Amino acid sequence: MTSDLEEIRKQAEAEIAGAASEESLLEIRTRYLGRKGLLTGLLRTISTVPQAERPAFGQRLNEVKDALDERIEDALQRVLSTDRDQALLKEQIDVTLPGRAVLPGRLHPITRVRQEIYSIFSGLGFSIVEGPEVETDYYNFEALNIPKDHPARDMQDTFYVEGNVVLRTHTSPVQVRTMERMKPPVRILSPGRVYRPDSDVSHTPMFHQVEGLLVDRHITLGDLKGVLTSFLTQFFGEDTALRFRPSFFPFTEPSAEVDIRCVMCRGAGCRVCGQSGWLEILGSGMVDPEVFKNVGYDPEEVTGFAFGLGVERMTMLKYGISDIRLFFENDWRFLEQFR
Ligand code: PHE
Repeated sequence: MTSDLEEIRKQAEAEIAGAASEESLLEIRTRYLGRKGLLTGLLRTISTVPQAERPAFGQRLNEVKDALDERIEDALQRVLSTDRDQALLKEQIDVTLPGRAVLPGRLHPITRVRQEIYSIFSGLGFSIVEGPEVETDYYNFEALNIPKDHPARDMQDTFYVEGNVVLRTHTSPVQVRTMERMKPPVRILSPGRVYRPDSDVSHTPMFHQVEGLLVDRHITLGDLKGVLTSFLTQFFGEDTALRFRPSFFPFTEPSAEVDIRCVMCRGAGCRVCGQSGWLEILGSGMVDPEVFKNVGYDPEEVTGFAFGLGVERMTMLKYGISDIRLFFENDWRFLEQFR
């Protein structure tokens, strides 16, 4: 019996010495010292030991148990501290390595241009008002003198949400909403997203417009011309030639489209301006008396002008960008160029 015990002890000691991980040491402990372990097994055979030898055997068994327990404890300390040392080694930081650069964000070109437009117009006394992107037929069309079944409706393809609800096709409904809310004088700028089912190199189904509206007593076409000339020369540069060309919008009378001398060819004629030397840049006109009547203003008392421009188009012309879709692809190689 005692020789069995010594065998087991030697065997266990060898295994402990060879164990390299916490896991294997715990396994050894269970196998030798656990409730169903080898040493506990020997204790159960004590009845086969002659009566006289039993105390000595029991005592030796306990000694061996304690000794093995202690060895396992020591070995555990050993493997745990090597694990720790190795982890520390692995986690060493080379403080001499160069850092990773954090790229600062920058404003999207559309945002920059919109802000530039705000700042020019705030210098001219305009303040900003916003309106809903999901509009009723009334505000998007009817109040702007575009009756149902009127051919003027065909000027703007429309996304219909349901029944009389549309995605606004322009920012002009904000003219109506603003005049309903306040008495003249009115001098507002209204930026925002607008929607038309259109898609090619110069059209996207969603784009940004800025609407302007100025209403007061004695406002004339001369005021319209003065304000828009001041804006466009500040935006495109003092030497930018302008052309006010008669046009038609149902909500302005008379109406004018404004062209700038082509920024690409300076008027010589090129692909961008279709050889005309001019680029159409915004729509404008004197507010139609019908619109004033719809909002309860007296057209005998007040006059005013309105204009609407496309922010993408302004940005493309200012920076010489030929495809509108670049604004919506979020390719940082494109965006990064606008510092
Ligand atoms: N709403 C017109 C458009 O989107 C532009 C415009 C606004 C024209 C105001 C005249 C006056 O085409």
